[in-house]
Amino acid sequence: MKNGKLRSQTWFARTGRDSFVHRAWLKAEGFSDAVFENRPVIGIANSWSELNNCNSHLRQVAEAVKRGVLMAGGMPLEFPVISLGEALMKPTAMMFRNLMSMDVEECIRANPLDGVVLLSGCDKTTPAMIMGAASADIPALVVTGGPMLRGMWRGIELGSGTDVWKYWDELRAGRITEEEWCEMESCISRSHGHCMVMGTASTMTSLAEALGMTLPGCAAIPAADSRRMAIAEESGRRMVQMVHEDLRPLKILTREAFENAIRVDMAIGGSTNAIIHLVAMAGRAGLDLPLSLFDRISRETPFVANIRPSGKYLMEDFFYAGGVPAVMQELLPLLHRGALTATGKSVEENVKSARIHNTDVLFPLDRPLHPQGGTVILSGNLAPNGAVFKQTAASPHLLKHTGRAVVFESYDDLRERFDDPSLDVDERCVLVLKNAGPKGAPGMPEWGQLPIPTKLLKKGVRDMVRISDARMSGTSYGAVVLHVDPEAAVGGTLALVQDGDLIELDVETRKLNLQVPDEELNRRRARWEPPKPYYARGYGKLFLDHVTQAHEGCDFDFLRFR
Ligand code: FES
Repeated sequence: MKNGKLRSQTWFARTGRDSFVHRAWLKAEGFSDAVFENRPVIGIANSWSELNNCNSHLRQVAEAVKRGVLMAGGMPLEFPVISLGEALMKPTAMMFRNLMSMDVEECIRANPLDGVVLLSGCDKTTPAMIMGAASADIPALVVTGGPMLRGMWRGIELGSGTDVWKYWDELRAGRITEEEWCEMESCISRSHGHCMVMGTASTMTSLAEALGMTLPGCAAIPAADSRRMAIAEESGRRMVQMVHEDLRPLKILTREAFENAIRVDMAIGGSTNAIIHLVAMAGRAGLDLPLSLFDRISRETPFVANIRPSGKYLMEDFFYAGGVPAVMQELLPLLHRGALTATGKSVEENVKSARIHNTDVLFPLDRPLHPQGGTVILSGNLAPNGAVFKQTAASPHLLKHTGRAVVFESYDDLRERFDDPSLDVDERCVLVLKNAGPKGAPGMPEWGQLPIPTKLLKKGVRDMVRISDARMSGTSYGAVVLHVDPEAAVGGTLALVQDGDLIELDVETRKLNLQVPDEELNRRRARWEPPKPYYARGYGKLFLDHVTQAHEGCDFDFLRFR
């Protein structure tokens, strides 16, 4: 809306040949003249795909959004955008997040849309939608698909991802049978929706809500719950009003909104991936979020959500306990309460009547699960630009640890040797994986939770310090240092680590150091050669040429900042 005039009217309201074409060709879909009578055209960007089970119900969600748009006097037009399915895409869905954001941005910009409802769910689809919408900056509202119902096997609740890693270790340790493992396969993902632990999808949908980019309460409603369709319908109605109010993403995505989102992330024990996505989304809004900001907010924010992988429960329980509104109501003294949201109201107005309904799932602020937030930022000579560690999902005895490095030069090297009986490794060692970062892998896959060698699992070892420039799934856990920056493939110190070097991790003081003298590191650096680029053409080459490092959000350099 510009000066009270709808953007779509530039296409439809004129006389002359071009407007004739715009109207006439759209009429091929069976629309009457009423469609073009100065009513807001609302795009519904749909990341539905049968290649992405987490988003496979979004066509039904789109129907509910359309109903709401029509009720409010708007005209809904649904369109597809690329979908990123975490489970299937190789080398990693992360490699395509920026591509999806470009798809969203350019589809919005090129078409006669006055506002857009963004349908997302699986991990990268939510940040990609927000990145694209922020860059296009027309009124936009996210509707997420909701988490799956809880998994259930022989009376045991299964959490997606988290219990895959757990029971895979149990299988290798000989504590469950192949038959039991196969049986679980049919029990863990039993409905529509995204993973139902506080993995990356649940974290990013919760943070979209904390940013003010969804209606309150949207993130936690299970995909299979009728209220998922009700909030989609309500979002369609609200979207039409947002067009009349000219409430655009950059009015919502302020520094205060991002600080609120970081605070909520720390309180819910969100995925480590959230840090990269928040930095990238903020970059599209022209805001810089230094990693030191995450660490400061982590130190100030109690961890209150008892949800796997950092806790006991699943997203369905989070919903029944009050979801994001209850967390934000509890956090109000620490939040920017006046931050504007998609409702047109402040954060405080949105959540003031929310309450916690189960204090074993959501702990009160004065009796938290942990006095500090879930994720911390480490630094030291091994990660001059920072590294990420999820303290709430790590074994406490490993939070201060010095150990001998066992180095894998690449993921292929890891796969070949980690289970070699002759590998010289014990539980005090530090497993190191190189060349798994944004350029090295490429795409920074979720390889960071390096497998514990079977011979140690059989001895009862369930956690070890592991270090890499990779990410890990938000559903993973353990004493895992991630996002080491600069990555090995661009010559970061990680590239210089050798078997037997001592590595010191101290989470309390946020230190991550390679105990090798500078003279020796300089000698190694002089001999270091960069790996050959993985791609010579196509999107892969564009990615390698322009992807930024983890502390810059891994966005393309030409997409950050307006
Ligand atoms: Fe889509 Fe986990 S695979 S959210």
